[in-house]
Amino acid sequence: MSDIIISVQNISKVFPKPASQDISVLDNIDLSLRESEIVCLLGTSGSGKSTLLRIMSGLIKPSSGIVSWYGQPIKGPIPGVSMVFQNFALLPWLTVLENVELGLEANNIPPDQRRKRALAAIDIVGMDGFESAYPKELSGGMCQRVGFARAIVVEPDVLFMDEPFSALDVLTAENLRNDLIDLWVAKKTKLKAILMVTHNIYEAAYMADRILIFGTNPGRIMADLKVDMPYDRNPDQSKFTELVDSIYHHITQASDSFSRIGGRLKPVDIHFRLPEVEISTLIGLVETLHSEAPTHQTEISDLAQELHLDLDDLLPIIDSLQLLRFAQLRSGRVELTFAGKMFAEASLLDQKQIFARQLLDYLPIVKHIHKRLNMKAGHSIHQSEILMLLRQKLSDTASEDVLKTVIEWSRYAEVFAFDVNSGHLSLDNPGEVSETDAGTK
Ligand SMILES: Nc1ncnc2c1ncn2[C@@H]1O[C@H](COP(=O)(O)OP(=O)(O)OP(=O)(O)O)[C@@H](O)[C@H]1O
Ligand SMILES: [Mg+2]
Repeated sequence: MSDIIISVQNISKVFPKPASQDISVLDNIDLSLRESEIVCLLGTSGSGKSTLLRIMSGLIKPSSGIVSWYGQPIKGPIPGVSMVFQNFALLPWLTVLENVELGLEANNIPPDQRRKRALAAIDIVGMDGFESAYPKELSGGMCQRVGFARAIVVEPDVLFMDEPFSALDVLTAENLRNDLIDLWVAKKTKLKAILMVTHNIYEAAYMADRILIFGTNPGRIMADLKVDMPYDRNPDQSKFTELVDSIYHHITQASDSFSRIGGRLKPVDIHFRLPEVEISTLIGLVETLHSEAPTHQTEISDLAQELHLDLDDLLPIIDSLQLLRFAQLRSGRVELTFAGKMFAEASLLDQKQIFARQLLDYLPIVKHIHKRLNMKAGHSIHQSEILMLLRQKLSDTASEDVLKTVIEWSRYAEVFAFDVNSGHLSLDNPGEVSETDAGTK
């Protein structure tokens, strides 16, 4: 179609990982960015959103597939695309004006022209008066405005924004979002389309003409929702709430960590990338769900609103509860399981026993550690043994993160003890739980 500006076909990206399996980050992505639209790419952390933006702007090459700019395959960075990043990336030793002018230096534009255009861009983003200020004198919101000015000063056709508001406080972010929409609606720039990455559902519902929901492992587009709502959107409108509910619905379907087989949750393997969730948060959510008497269930969108959490915070907690079979997610509703109810109603000591049983039953890594400790003379092993095991399939950082979560959950449940100084896991005072007591075969 003639109004397509950028299109990607069959894009995949695999990052090679030495001495183990390569990491497949994006799989078979097709998408087009058309004239006059703001598209939001909505996905959880680590799903490959930034990688896709980098590929689409020509900064990195895909492992396979084609990126086209006005119908022509690209061969390198696309000059008509500008980027705005989450961290403003301003040079601290340059003034606002110099930072914005920097965007034009590569284009061989005479200095007086550069200055004129930079001043105009600064004006557009509402920063006039701050031309001679240095970044350290500016608030986060102002720095991001300068980031926008630097992006639009080159008069790009397309603006890519990678979580541009997520480093800002709530009110500043809202203010900037509104100003950006005003610029867009009033056509104060030459922009023809905007592609924005976010993990904030509200932000996507507020700004997008189209929302692409991104599934993980590897990243792929799970849904393409057209938003038919004029700007000046109001989160209290029923249409807005319906949109948010529908986004949640698609996301919960896209969240594949716990994909179901025949209605039952799929067992995870020993290298499963556990979400990083603190034990107190897990227990807090079980209690919140339990307070939803008598059904002990709630809409995930209501839960997010009640707890003031966004997607990246809420989904890992629900995933963890599902993993431990304390809760299950069905058609956008989170519901306590029988074990979840038992846990919520138990005494503190019994809670630990129940938690230990779920850990040993459903987390193979905990079961493995417990078994090793029982077998070893002295009932102690060094954490490096477990790290080595995890590193067979996970990156170094991911392995450390998983071990940290495993240790925190297991210590709480007294499945084993951990000595932070020596790095040893042991059955020293691990409580009364044994594998047999805990109900595993
Ligand atoms: N150059 C690289 N080499 C190896 N792995 C990489 C590289 N760049 C990204 N990755 C991996 O690809 C995955 C996706 O990363 P990416 O930054 O695209 O995700 P994201 O959705 O933008 O996440 P976030 O919300 O945290 O910004 C991550 O697991 C990351 O570790
Ligand atoms: Mg990113």
